[in-house]
Amino acid sequence: MKSLRVFPAKSFDIEIAAIASDKSISHRSAMFSLLSDRPSTIRNFLRAEDTLNTLQIVQALGAEVEDSGSSITITPPSSIQEPEDLLDCGNSGTGMRLFCGLLSGVRGFFVLTGDQYLRKRPMKRVVVPLRDIGARIDGREEGNKAPLAIRGNEVLEPFDYESPIASAQVKSAMILAALRAKGRCKYSEPELSRDHTERMLRGMGANIETTSKNGRYEVWIEPLKAPLQSLDITIPADPSSAFFFAVAAAIVPGSRVVLKNLTLNPTRIEAFRVLEQMGAKVQLIQKENIYEPIGDIIVEYAPLRAVEVSQNIPWLIDELPALSIAMAVAKGRSVVKGAKELRVKESDRIATVVENLRKCGIEVEEFEDGYAIEGGKLHFAKVKSHGDHRIAMSFLIAGLVSGMEVEDVECIETSFPNFVDLLRQITEVRGGN
Ligand code: S3P
Repeated sequence: MKSLRVFPAKSFDIEIAAIASDKSISHRSAMFSLLSDRPSTIRNFLRAEDTLNTLQIVQALGAEVEDSGSSITITPPSSIQEPEDLLDCGNSGTGMRLFCGLLSGVRGFFVLTGDQYLRKRPMKRVVVPLRDIGARIDGREEGNKAPLAIRGNEVLEPFDYESPIASAQVKSAMILAALRAKGRCKYSEPELSRDHTERMLRGMGANIETTSKNGRYEVWIEPLKAPLQSLDITIPADPSSAFFFAVAAAIVPGSRVVLKNLTLNPTRIEAFRVLEQMGAKVQLIQKENIYEPIGDIIVEYAPLRAVEVSQNIPWLIDELPALSIAMAVAKGRSVVKGAKELRVKESDRIATVVENLRKCGIEVEEFEDGYAIEGGKLHFAKVKSHGDHRIAMSFLIAGLVSGMEVEDVECIETSFPNFVDLLRQITEVRGGN
């Protein structure tokens, strides 16, 4: 198990053009290429463990993948093939849940598995609604835990599903299943979750309409009558990865960072708005719009003040661990509520944030659906990542203020392999065991 030690930083002013590509869009671009009959071209595909696992699965399902270095070309099979072996999603909940939806309506036998962390995460949220429309899926704990075995069924029933949670993974799994259903389907969620699936599939020619009604967000999906157009996409940088460096600039006095070419999709950048509310200077510069608005974000240090976060939680759920570091140095008591979903991420992120901040000398109150953080002075500590990439990176960023040792940092490879190289532009980082 590798650990890293990070040392306090002096003020910095940097531009980062090498933030990891967006994970959500990378997964989707590889998977959705299977829905076309023409080769898709993907530039800036995220070369991290999670998305490379997805790419391997797409290959195991019969696609040909050609990698020129700067772009990846995926030539889909005429129809999705039954793989010879297990499909390993590694650490990725997005991979596993979206493949459940995609494969439920394909003839064949598919077994999805993952690492020790993914095998503990709840899958019923997709398995139950998919079974309700005729999918044949089983797994440990009555289908709640991977490995999951899918006996693809080509005749899925049309549905009108009201999801109790705002989850883009559940929504995407159901949209993918709907594309192979016998009739028009409707999916609704209590709040809008990230909408890359709707945007990308519509861009590929799928008949998908979205509306807001009675406070719920609705998606109407027509089943496919013909293969979709192929994708030609340059994947923007991932705002949830960029956000670690936004927090870095916001907590190290006198610092500034320019984060280049991020998706500025409103469902993804809410955490930057919260940082602004806390006092940091944040500037958004939109440059393009290809499937998504794309541009740069500049973040500058200013003394931070406490904030209460209970709105638009799905739009900043992935950034909450990093935001907790900003809250730990802000003046006053910050509160996060309505974020129970944090408990079923790569780790129980409420428990891991609370445990680690306490080790750093910060007063934290734990709730079932969040926490309250009394801003103060971070102290050096030795903390555990619990195998969770975002916990590892958040506490390495905290180390810019107080110094920090983070154990079990291999997980950073799942989403942001060059994170430590970028961190070294700001401060000294030493590896250890
Ligand atoms: C993701 C959706 C979110 C997010 C995850 C990626 C996606 O999960 O936390 O990191 O790509 O669809 P939920 O859909 O479970 O909220």
